[in-house]
Amino acid sequence: MRPLLEDGAQRAIQYLEGLDARGVAPSSAAISRLPLLDGELPGGPCDAGEVLALLDDVASPASMAMAGRRFFGFVIGGSLPVTVAANWLATAWDQNAAIHRVTPAVSQLEQTALRWLLDLLALPPECGAAFVTGATVANFTALAAARHTVLTRVGWDVEGDGLFGAPPITVVVSDEAHPSLTKSLGLLGLGRSRVVKVPVDGEGRMRADLLPAMAGPTIVCVQAGNVNTGSFDPIAEIVAAAHDAGAWVHVDGAFGLWAAAVPSRAHLAVGVEQADSWATDAHKWLNVPYDSGLAFVRDADALEAAMAITAAYLPTTTPFRNPSDFTPELSRRARGVEVWAALRQLGRAGVADLIEGCCRHATAFAEGLEAAGFEILNDVVLNQVLVSFGDAATTRRVIAAVQEDGTCWCGPTEWQGRVAMRISVSSWATTAEDVQRSLAAIVRAARAGG
Ligand SMILES: Cc1ncc(COP(=O)(O)O)c(C=O)c1O
Repeated sequence: MRPLLEDGAQRAIQYLEGLDARGVAPSSAAISRLPLLDGELPGGPCDAGEVLALLDDVASPASMAMAGRRFFGFVIGGSLPVTVAANWLATAWDQNAAIHRVTPAVSQLEQTALRWLLDLLALPPECGAAFVTGATVANFTALAAARHTVLTRVGWDVEGDGLFGAPPITVVVSDEAHPSLTKSLGLLGLGRSRVVKVPVDGEGRMRADLLPAMAGPTIVCVQAGNVNTGSFDPIAEIVAAAHDAGAWVHVDGAFGLWAAAVPSRAHLAVGVEQADSWATDAHKWLNVPYDSGLAFVRDADALEAAMAITAAYLPTTTPFRNPSDFTPELSRRARGVEVWAALRQLGRAGVADLIEGCCRHATAFAEGLEAAGFEILNDVVLNQVLVSFGDAATTRRVIAAVQEDGTCWCGPTEWQGRVAMRISVSSWATTAEDVQRSLAAIVRAARAGG
């Protein structure tokens, strides 16, 4: 097995080292070779080295360079090298991160990483937490705990009896709630559209002055970091009103929650720590490999009540934390390993530098584009920039030209009725020089004409 594993590592290293010299988007020639991975199921085994060579030869060039320094398409940060290496090691361990007595090492790593995260993000130390696939499932997990609590308070056992005949729950979201949050509500039987929507302001922030009157079982979902503008709902104000009415407040902070770890951005997240539950991603701004999301719940017992299972064959009795008591899954890869490695290497100051560096690059993008005569549509408070190059058709043409050029990759969005190009800076690897190179490419594409 050694030659095969060494070959895999060499190929991965070459891939990462080669990213800077290729276009960010895969070429159409590379994409046209993808059918080579298709075909009939082989009748029998072949050489494992050949399988790896085929993968690398065909799939590597057809991949998007999301691990590189100039991918600004979504909130996607390339993985820190220490997390890639830790991921390889953890893959070799092949631990099923469910039960402490069976997998003590990864259970310990998760527990330590969680303690560090709560400290770093200034969240209550008593929180229960779950390592999940991403913010979508983190929202689902935290909202399951919310559903448990608001129904328990009115004498309803939702885990036992489901929602058939249950007292209704009022769910309050903003007009700008991320669609993955609405999907989570649907999965929980709370309804994607059976929600009370609160209007937003010009930056996409929930209007706290337009909150509905709240009574009975109620869950209010706020956002830390709008996927387009990076703006934060006025969370302190909303939490105060919701808690006065006995409501549960959940924060979708897929990337914005990380602002709490940076002294210069923490003002954006004021009041976040007063909420009842939080969802975030490590695969976004902590720059660990996919997939890696996190759910935190102040009342750990509520999360455990919603998630824990027991079975005669499972050795769940332990004085330690069983990871699967807090997650939707029983069997699960040990996502905490890379989170632990990132935090152990960066420390508090390193995480703050990573986040702040991305925010500074976003500001440099906005300043450069504005100086070149283009319109910035948002207040750049975090790592998100929305730019218009004129009418919708012109902006779409520029985005296509930027993607085709390959120096960097940015995607389209619509912001309050306007088509825009969206720039998200989320990688440890992006430098000021990358920003200037990308700015030059964008301005070139915009001035080239249609
Ligand atoms: C605010 C917000 N919530 C949730 C999500 C979903 O995250 P994931 O794709 O990790 O499930 C995103 C993704 O960008 C987001 O920006």
